[in-house]
Amino acid sequence: MKQKIKYKKVLITGVSSGLGYGLAQSFLEQGIKVLGCSRRMPKGLIQQGLNFCALDFSDRASSLPIMRQWISRAGAIDLLILNAGVLGAIKDMQASSTEELKATMEVNLWANKWFLDACLSEDRPIQQVVGISSGASLSGSRGWNGYSLSKAAFNMLIKLYAGECPNTHFTALAPGLVDTAMQDYLTNLPADERYSPLEVLKKAKGTDDMPNGYRCAQKLITIFPKLLNFESGGYSDIRKLEG
Ligand SMILES: NC(=O)c1ccc[n+]([C@@H]2O[C@H](COP(=O)([O-])OP(=O)(O)OC[C@H]3O[C@@H](n4cnc5c(N)ncnc54)[C@H](OP(=O)(O)O)[C@@H]3O)[C@@H](O)[C@H]2O)c1
Repeated sequence: MKQKIKYKKVLITGVSSGLGYGLAQSFLEQGIKVLGCSRRMPKGLIQQGLNFCALDFSDRASSLPIMRQWISRAGAIDLLILNAGVLGAIKDMQASSTEELKATMEVNLWANKWFLDACLSEDRPIQQVVGISSGASLSGSRGWNGYSLSKAAFNMLIKLYAGECPNTHFTALAPGLVDTAMQDYLTNLPADERYSPLEVLKKAKGTDDMPNGYRCAQKLITIFPKLLNFESGGYSDIRKLEG
């Protein structure tokens, strides 16, 4: 391993459920300071010591000033995990309005830009940024419209920031299948031969191929330091790193 890192303070977006909740819980259990944000309040995590701020990634105008105030007291951050995200509806591109696609882009792409800009300002040292991406950023499966578009652009956002921030290491990381609210939506959709990944997801649900947010977080936490061995700005998939 080329670089070693000891995480003392971690900032995670999207901590109210799923993977973000699991990551926050796992770090708190290790005695690491965790700051987290989402719209809903994760009461269980706050009881465990989470420093929480309610933010809406679809509403930059009202959330950015609140976020700036919150982050101004944070000091140095060892690891920033950009995890908050939305899926949008699975349907054909021609059935999707530009407004729907823009709404997904707002949360999955543009909110990460203003969030990163605010975090990187004031010369705040941030050692590592991990953007939670998805295999959908590459696959372009029919029906995954705004999600695939936004995650593909998110991979590039991570690469572009890496190019201008040499003191911070960036990765776009696909976490594999995680049994969360997103998968509840997908696996409850009726079988539809147009959207072939649905069959794979339905089969994986309830098996080791789709761990819950906490179990996936436990795996990711062992992988984050290893990402530092790769060139900053790249895309990795946990399924390839484990294998
Ligand atoms: N589940 C999978 O199989 C899978 C696979 C690949 C990648 N991912 C990625 O993993 C990440 C976490 O997703 P998940 O599966 O854990 O889904 P989830 O349970 O739905 O969690 C999404 C999180 O994002 C937050 N969020 C959504 N909209 C937001 C907004 N407008 N403002 C602030 N926060 C917002 C949610 O908080 P609030 O609703 O409280 O705001 C929640 O905490 C996402 O980036 C997703 O794309 C998931």
